[in-house]
Amino acid sequence: MNIPFVDLKIQYEAIMGEIDEAVKDIISNTAFVGCPKIDEFEKNFASSNEAKHAIGVNTGTDALFFVLKAMGVKAGDEVITVSNTFIATTETITRANAKVKFVDINKDTYEIDTELLEKAITPQTKVIIPVHLYGQMAEMDVIKEIADKHNLMILEDACQAHNAAFNNKKPGFYGDAAAFSFYPGKNLGAYGDAGAVVTDNDEIAEKIRLLRDHGRISKYEHLVEGFNSRMDGIQAAVLNVKLRHLEEWTEMRRKNARLYSELLKGTDVVAQVEHSKAKHVYHLYVIRVKERDRLMDFLKSKGISTGIHYPIPLHLQPAYKYMNHKEGDFPVTEEYSKEIVSLPMFPELTEEQIKYTVDSIKEFKG
Ligand SMILES: Cc1ncc(COP(=O)(O)O)c(C=O)c1O
Repeated sequence: MNIPFVDLKIQYEAIMGEIDEAVKDIISNTAFVGCPKIDEFEKNFASSNEAKHAIGVNTGTDALFFVLKAMGVKAGDEVITVSNTFIATTETITRANAKVKFVDINKDTYEIDTELLEKAITPQTKVIIPVHLYGQMAEMDVIKEIADKHNLMILEDACQAHNAAFNNKKPGFYGDAAAFSFYPGKNLGAYGDAGAVVTDNDEIAEKIRLLRDHGRISKYEHLVEGFNSRMDGIQAAVLNVKLRHLEEWTEMRRKNARLYSELLKGTDVVAQVEHSKAKHVYHLYVIRVKERDRLMDFLKSKGISTGIHYPIPLHLQPAYKYMNHKEGDFPVTEEYSKEIVSLPMFPELTEEQIKYTVDSIKEFKG
């Protein structure tokens, strides 16, 4: 049986009529940039996150970067985050001229270790970026307490956590702002690149609206220098349609994850622990096994696609050689990078496909 890692086509086929109509509408109105569909999506996305503002931009990377800029992060500042994340999280810190400071992850939840967080804070620390990795939010109540104690701001990297919650609160509630990616494979994916910032902070929202569009206050009047990072009309139209289905797709992902966990009980496989206060939205279903690479090869031979998120921790990447980190600096992150494997996960994954995958894992002789 062939099981893809994600299947975007099956999702498109289910909502083809709605999508085609929405995209056709943009094309026939030639409303490609700065069109009302973008305002409509921003309103809908803000309300789905119970937030005051949502500002559409062209990637999750720019969403992160603009928040740091809007927070006034500058040279000499430190920003704390994890090493087990996609490089976009830290690229944006460097792009804002600040210094990246890593903290290890929690052994159970795989999110930032809040026990280690406070020790990493220095007088230079300005911002904490908890990454809601794989679709599970970090321990936001504890992080907020620590941030308030040290007068720090919080930027939530929610690029993998659409519709996730912690204490029933969505990304952007505990933090000063949350950044989302709508890269096509995300839980809420566009048909190209797109991103958004969600915030209750009027000042941050206003600054990002300027930064994403050349610092414009009218067509040829520029308050500051900015960037060209607008969300385009076609992406907004697609996202408006898909947002209506997000809750249903989230529940399908959660159901798939429950079945994986149930069937994997009693095996040597270790699954990511769901924090009791977190609503995990399973962008990825990640397990740990000792013979990871051999298991992946075996699953491939059975037609099952898998992935690793992420195989090289950021502190050991060539790009960050200048930081002089070494093996052993963040032991949990390092150990897990050798053991983690992401199993196929998308809403439409069938019970049969999940059973076949788990049976194949059980069949594997490490
Ligand atoms: C954790 C994380 N942060 C940031 C990003 C960057 O988002 P984008 O690809 O939309 O720039 C991604 C997505 O790739 C991500 O997974």
